[in-house]
Amino acid sequence: MLVRSLLSTAMVSTMLLGGSSPSPKTSSVAATVDAADGPEFAADKQLEFPVKYREWTYVGSGVDMSYTLKEEAADHSTFNTVFVNPSSYREFMKTGTWPDGTALVLENRVAVHGGERQASLNKHGLTQTNEVTGLEVHVKNAFLPGGWGFYAFDNKKSAKIIPQAASCYSCHQQHAAVDTTFVQFYPTLMEVANEKKILSKAYSDEMGKAAK
Ligand code: HEC
Repeated sequence: MLVRSLLSTAMVSTMLLGGSSPSPKTSSVAATVDAADGPEFAADKQLEFPVKYREWTYVGSGVDMSYTLKEEAADHSTFNTVFVNPSSYREFMKTGTWPDGTALVLENRVAVHGGERQASLNKHGLTQTNEVTGLEVHVKNAFLPGGWGFYAFDNKKSAKIIPQAASCYSCHQQHAAVDTTFVQFYPTLMEVANEKKILSKAYSDEMGKAAK
């Protein structure tokens, strides 16, 4: 049995196609949350693999981001790219709040320099490859302790919640700009966060310190 975590407000949009149509407009019934676009939990509360995340809204990416000063031992570069379910993106852009049922996916993908591997045309910069080396999900749901949970997938089926004592939770709490999410690295969201003045105290203090 699947437990849907989102409100079931259906988004109905009708495209009228064809030259003979009396109205070529797209009409849509207003909806705040799209019923089918968020994370799904199995009956045992494991998170189902978000199969459609590549259809979600892209919010930002980094290359070789590292949280420590020491050099990573990897023999290749990594793109980390973040996606969020579209209805939650729209809600954040409007209100600056992540609704219950938000899921942000962090995908790590091997990157190569032109010349390192056969990549058509590219001679210098980095491009992404098909090799996904990590898939982590950050989910907001009222049934989770603290309201948010982290999951790391090593298969395309389901993942257990990472326990609260893990460093995922403390680092995100201590450094993320909005509601434990790293909005400071997602430019379109950061514009909204600045405008609405919803930056976390932890982040503001950190930036205040950095400015001195
Ligand atoms: C030392 C700090 C730190 C730790 C520990 C950490 N993260 Fe993050 N996380 C970040 C930063 C910085 C970003 C944003 C930048 C990026 O990678 O795109 C991020 C982004 C994310 C995102 C994208 C959504 C969001 O919340 O912004 C997910 C999902 C995520 N991390 C999962 C995890 C998981 C799972 C763990 C634990 C296994 C973890 N993180 C541990 C710093 C951390």
